[in-house]
Amino acid sequence: MVSYPPPVLISLAFLTQCLSAQISSVASPQPSNLISSNLASLPGSFSATVASSLRNATATASSFAASSTTEDVTAIAGLPISTAQTKVNASITTSAHPRPSNTRPCNGYPEFCQRRFSNISMVVAHNSPFVKSHNAASNQMLPVLTQLNDGIRGLSFETQKPNSSSEIRLCHTSCDLLDVGTLESYLTTVTGWLDSHPYEVIALLMGNNNGHDERITPSEFATTFQKSGILKYMYTPPSTSMNITEWPTLGEMILRNKRVVSFLDYGTNQEEVPWLLSEWGYQWETPFSPVDPAFPCTEQRPPNQADDVSRNRMYVLNHNLNIQVDLGTVDDILIPAYSLLDQVNAASGNGSLGLNVENCEKMWGRSPNWLLVDYYNFGDFNGSVFQVAATANNVSYNRESCCGVQATSGASARFRNLPSALFSVAFLVFFG
Ligand SMILES: *[C@@H]1O[C@H](CO)[C@@H](O)[C@H](O)[C@H]1NC(C)=O
Ligand SMILES: *[C@@H]1O[C@H](CO)[C@@H](O)[C@H](O)[C@H]1NC(C)=O
Ligand SMILES: *[C@@H]1O[C@H](CO)[C@@H](O)[C@H](O)[C@H]1NC(C)=O
Ligand SMILES: *[C@@H]1O[C@H](CO)[C@@H](O)[C@H](O)[C@H]1NC(C)=O
Ligand SMILES: *[C@@H]1O[C@H](CO)[C@@H](O)[C@H](O)[C@H]1NC(C)=O
Ligand SMILES: *[C@@H]1O[C@H](CO)[C@@H](O)[C@H](O)[C@H]1NC(C)=O
Ligand SMILES: *[C@@H]1O[C@H](CO)[C@@H](O)[C@H](O)[C@H]1NC(C)=O
Ligand SMILES: *[C@@H]1O[C@H](CO)[C@@H](O)[C@H](O)[C@H]1NC(C)=O
Repeated sequence: MVSYPPPVLISLAFLTQCLSAQISSVASPQPSNLISSNLASLPGSFSATVASSLRNATATASSFAASSTTEDVTAIAGLPISTAQTKVNASITTSAHPRPSNTRPCNGYPEFCQRRFSNISMVVAHNSPFVKSHNAASNQMLPVLTQLNDGIRGLSFETQKPNSSSEIRLCHTSCDLLDVGTLESYLTTVTGWLDSHPYEVIALLMGNNNGHDERITPSEFATTFQKSGILKYMYTPPSTSMNITEWPTLGEMILRNKRVVSFLDYGTNQEEVPWLLSEWGYQWETPFSPVDPAFPCTEQRPPNQADDVSRNRMYVLNHNLNIQVDLGTVDDILIPAYSLLDQVNAASGNGSLGLNVENCEKMWGRSPNWLLVDYYNFGDFNGSVFQVAATANNVSYNRESCCGVQATSGASARFRNLPSALFSVAFLVFFG
């Protein structure tokens, strides 16, 4: 595994922007300047220092404002203030930027910096890579970069290896049916976005070769992640299971630059690959691929989990409505109920995401962490799925920010042996 120096400069930039009202002597360079510079060389205890200091720092804004001193900054940066000042100055090659007047948003909202990762509802693009417009087997219309720009913070997808010599590929149900390319290529795209969005934290929710006898090994995932460049961002948890009270704040994850949490459903080994998390140690899911428009909030995976365990863990709300299509083959295929999307992704109403989130809040005493949807850009208005998340998070959503237009490149799906019957069946089901 590649070891990565903690990004003190990002830390300083982030910190100075958070604290700009209090600490006027520290410059506030743009984060992008700092990402590319590589001046940091820090003692091993740095991360722990950042972690513990940041907890203090983010406890409450007012307590921090009251107590912020040069010593606080020293503790957080791990450097004496004068050294920190020199390094910050050294990294600025152009003229000084004006100090920002407000705190820096984390995942779009300043409020989220102080919240735990486990206390925020985020929208997940179900089967994020399966982008193919006007095609029954796809789940999204807009490509991953647009998804991320619009506010998607969870990317779900199935990983498959059609044969033992194949790279890990992104296939829908089977690589014979829909194959949208390699995991490495997809992750390389996501890494580029993370590079240019240093205050964003995302999750990957992955399935491991489901429907096949063999699982893809953790080391194969590690190789692919390394080649894509995303490895430096992977979050490693302190233990193999975590309750909601144990997750770090978004601010802490951003300061440490560990901004990607990866969950895999089966076949992990966290001793071998500690950032590839067994999903069920950290969160559970409501019924998967529902064909029930009532969208029950009950716990389905992992099976037979004790209620108090569920109450203490994050959870995924599967809110994608499917129609089962009988192809006359061994496995029937579930495809999104396209004609009902406006209702399913709506902020309110029968069968809506908004109502489903409310019902789950009532049942579990808190909102679902992950709102998993097909075609996130559909709904009763543009961005209605993000409105639902904002309501659950007690923040306001700017509807103008959704949804981006379809990119002309990027989606290069290859269809093989896709039965033409699928399309006629789907057509009848949807529009008949
Ligand atoms: C953070 O708080 C702990 C107690 O909660 C205290 O022991 C520690 O000194 C504080 N660290 C800083 C840098 O303020
Ligand atoms: C860093 O820059 C500030 C102005 O932005 C200046 O006041 C300060 O003296 C500089 N510090 C060093 C060590 O160059
Ligand atoms: C294995 O799968 C890859 C990717 O689909 C394909 O290019 C290759 O031809 C396959 N190899 C064999 C031996 O089937
Ligand atoms: C997590 O929650 C479970 C269930 O209430 C509890 O048994 C366990 O002790 C908790 N773990 C930690 C580390 O708090
Ligand atoms: C809500 O949807 C269910 C199932 O789709 C249907 O039976 C019911 O009549 C609907 N209720 C309203 C008020 O539309
Ligand atoms: C976060 O905490 C608040 C207050 O307890 C709660 O209302 C909300 O549902 C929580 N959200 C999540 C996703 O845990
Ligand atoms: C929703 O966004 C699309 C572009 O993605 C736009 O064409 C459409 O007019 C928007 N609808 C509303 C109601 O704003
Ligand atoms: C929601 O946010 C407002 C401030 O914007 C606050 O007064 C209120 O207590 C918050 N509600 C919850 C449940 O956290």
